[in-house]
Amino acid sequence: MKIAVGADHGGYPLNVRIVAELRAVGHAVEDFGTRDGARGDDYPDYARRVGEAVREGGAEVGIVVCGSGVGASVAANKLRGVRAALCSDTYSAHQSREHDDCNVLCLGARVTGEELAMEIVRAFVGARFTGEERHLRRLAKVLDIERAETSKANDEV
Ligand code: RB5
Repeated sequence: MKIAVGADHGGYPLNVRIVAELRAVGHAVEDFGTRDGARGDDYPDYARRVGEAVREGGAEVGIVVCGSGVGASVAANKLRGVRAALCSDTYSAHQSREHDDCNVLCLGARVTGEELAMEIVRAFVGARFTGEERHLRRLAKVLDIERAETSKANDEV
């Protein structure tokens, strides 16, 4: 699977592990950085790059890691077409794909231990949207909100 990943300095150490493991099991991973965990950089830059890769079809799913995962998820969810899930447990990780068709996983490297984080990654990457009617109905309502917000923003210009 094509997977886009990115992390700020807070998420860097965990991101190194994620990239290594996903590549080792055969995924095509595009790493949008950072390459320098000692530099105080900004999580929106990585959330944006990963989100754009997913939205534009360069990756099927994305993973963004920051210190808490909160900033990464707030930023990623600003991109149209991105549904980012901040997860600290494996149930939410697979359900976010199966029910909510989330396409970006966010992790907090300072909050979630590394081994649990890797289980969360495996649960997210391994799950698929079920496409069941009730989930499609709810997803359509989410997309309605996104469309309405976008047209409101366009009207304001
Ligand atoms: C960086 O210090 C930290 O604020 C960032 O990684 C993230 O936790 C924000 O939500």
